[in-house]
Amino acid sequence: MRTPLIAGNWKMNGSHALVDAFGRAFADTALPDSLDVIVLPPFPYLDAARRALADVSVQLGAQTLNPSHAGAHTGEVSGRMLQEFGVEHVLVGHSERRALYRETDDDVYDRLLAALSVGIQPILCVGETLEERDAGHTFDVVLRQVGHALAPLEPEQRARVTIAYEPVWAIGTGRTATPEQAQDVMAAIREYQSGFDPDLAQAMRLLYGGSMSAANAAELLAQPDIDGGLVGGASLKVDDFLAICHSAR
Ligand code: G3H
Repeated sequence: MRTPLIAGNWKMNGSHALVDAFGRAFADTALPDSLDVIVLPPFPYLDAARRALADVSVQLGAQTLNPSHAGAHTGEVSGRMLQEFGVEHVLVGHSERRALYRETDDDVYDRLLAALSVGIQPILCVGETLEERDAGHTFDVVLRQVGHALAPLEPEQRARVTIAYEPVWAIGTGRTATPEQAQDVMAAIREYQSGFDPDLAQAMRLLYGGSMSAANAAELLAQPDIDGGLVGGASLKVDDFLAICHSAR
């Protein structure tokens, strides 16, 4: 059995007030016993979030990292720094990083390695654009992204990676993939993983991302290969985020 995982990616949103609201709401809520929850605020709020969530079972994540440990990289943040703030997870390859900041598959791999090297668990994001889906290239694109990042890894490294399938056309659009569309791609990702190690493929958690909401989460999470969600917009409303967490049973 894989433990469900709900991760809230605030993107470039949030405030001290939101951090405090999350701290209060999670302190007042009994989450399902078998559930992992991660909150991923922007860098400046990591320390406040760590303190606000210190007494509840919510883990801290970051949204990106630089592949180097230190040096002349103005504006960047390294994995070692994140580690000092209690960050246990980091996104790599989010489609917004790929599209807006031109991160290539090689860049994603470098970030994945940097996270692993400091003991932070990467959440590798993959997904196709609408053009790629319409052209019938969904599986090629997604499995290329997965393979580029995972094939060179040692088995022990691969075991520390979570994969989030986020169809780009579903992100922030209100247009969710149907449970069947998401399930088909995620089953293919798990099948691909079986080529490396069937046991690991069964153990690896796969998250769906793309307009997940309190209204559609239960149906998505009921799919056999969907183990959780990477939630954007709905993670900014604490009641909605909690409702999604309670859908993951
Ligand atoms: O990281 C989260 C995903 O990009 C999904 O964002 O829930 O706002 O569509 P969204």
